[in-house]
Amino acid sequence: MESITHYHDLTSYDRIKMRGGYLDWSNQPEPYKIYEECERIPLPREISLPSQDLWEVMEAKAEPEGVLPWDMGTIARILVLTCSVTARAKYSAGEFHYRSTPSAGALYPTEIYLCTTGQGPIPPGLYFYDLASHSLSVLRLFTKEEEARRILFFITGRFFRSAWKYSDRGYRYVLLDAGHLLENLHLALNSMKLAHSIRYDFPDKEVNEFLGLDPGKEVALVVVELGAQAGGRFRLPEGSRLAEKIPRAREICLREEVPPLIIRAHELTSSLKGTIGEGADMWERLGLQVRGQRWLKGFSSRPKGPKYADVLWSRRSRRAYLPRELGQEALEAMARGLEIRDEPSEFHPRKVIAIGASISRVQGLEPGFYLMGKEQGSLSLVLEGDLSLQMARACLEQEWIAGSAVQFLFITNLRHMEETFGPRSYRYAMLLSGRVGQRIYLRATALGLGACGIGAFYDEEARRLLGLNEDSRLLYLVTLGPIRGKAS
Ligand SMILES: Cc1cc2nc3c(=O)[nH]c(=O)nc-3n(C[C@H](O)[C@H](O)[C@H](O)COP(=O)(O)O)c2cc1C
Repeated sequence: MESITHYHDLTSYDRIKMRGGYLDWSNQPEPYKIYEECERIPLPREISLPSQDLWEVMEAKAEPEGVLPWDMGTIARILVLTCSVTARAKYSAGEFHYRSTPSAGALYPTEIYLCTTGQGPIPPGLYFYDLASHSLSVLRLFTKEEEARRILFFITGRFFRSAWKYSDRGYRYVLLDAGHLLENLHLALNSMKLAHSIRYDFPDKEVNEFLGLDPGKEVALVVVELGAQAGGRFRLPEGSRLAEKIPRAREICLREEVPPLIIRAHELTSSLKGTIGEGADMWERLGLQVRGQRWLKGFSSRPKGPKYADVLWSRRSRRAYLPRELGQEALEAMARGLEIRDEPSEFHPRKVIAIGASISRVQGLEPGFYLMGKEQGSLSLVLEGDLSLQMARACLEQEWIAGSAVQFLFITNLRHMEETFGPRSYRYAMLLSGRVGQRIYLRATALGLGACGIGAFYDEEARRLLGLNEDSRLLYLVTLGPIRGKAS
């Protein structure tokens, strides 16, 4: 494998070549990571949750640091809003836990670590968020104190959790899942007006060592640092390397055999090269011809949604859509939520991914494939006609997709990205697709609509269906539509 585009193509699904999967249930990975030997600091369970509605949180501008006290309640609140168990299902061998973020195959490959320096409610050190017991596992305490307080969150991906089911393709899902979780963390911090920087670029080797990870199994994917001044080159807290070794966590299965292709793909994306700042938006690089523009009719006033926290708890993947049209105002309200604004200035999401919408049933809008939001509130028509049935077929015959009103599409010109910005840009594209996917899920929930992420599709068939040029790829889809018992 010589390029990340090659990895992507090697892990493409092909109708003819695809064979039925086999799951080794005796080697099923545990969904929770547990550091048995570590001291655990319990986090408060009774915490005050933000009162804003989702719209306010998505549009909130972070304020300079120091708005909230940095105490145990704040730490717990951030973590609970980022990742919680929100549903339980009983089955013969026990209980299965669903979380506030969706996950391909409900395999939950992501983990969260927290590091603090300076004075605070917990001593300066590195901690692991133990979701199962809602506590912080103390991984290491820093021997040399830094004067200034720094607070960093690390999101990691455990390859085998996804690879157990999806094999080589699992790396794609680890990245998409991490994007969903990252957006929840970003919104949690927004809801508290805590300024922060999202860092996709960091020295992989140093950060993985710092977290005590075996990079053949688990790797850091993104770092989020609190504080308005967190820009500039990333550096790890000083003195941390002087501390003792990190304890080992419990094994997650009998044989954690990560496919070599995944390890190689991740290594390939480790290089740091260039920024995304220059050049055209991604939609211009897909080889698509725009045939006209439509302006979406919006709500006369901003819809008053349910509380952001309630939306988080009630989000689920919904597939049983009603054969009803979606109101144009609802689509406009969805479209407004797609834009990620709080990125560092050198990082432009629009240059990394284009967002399309395959529209089947929206009031007053002819069915077709559109590009979203070249300008705010606008749709650019690319292909006329309802593609939903063909899209459902291209998505491994998942027929329910044809019942959705809209399929949001995340697309990039992979070859251009890789050649211009280096292979690490694959991570940006997948993480960003996951982030926007999470925004779609949450906004849909707030509007009483259903949404569901789709990672399984015949890649080449989907590319041809959308008329993308040879270098462009569909990365991810999220369906949307009216569901029973809810407003539309
Ligand atoms: C990256 C990704 C890919 C997914 N792909 C599919 C898919 O192809 N088909 C499907 O029915 N659901 C898909 N899902 C939805 C998951 O099955 C769902 O999130 C998981 O079962 C947990 O359920 P919940 O979202 O209701 O919490 C996907 C979710 C994610 C995040």
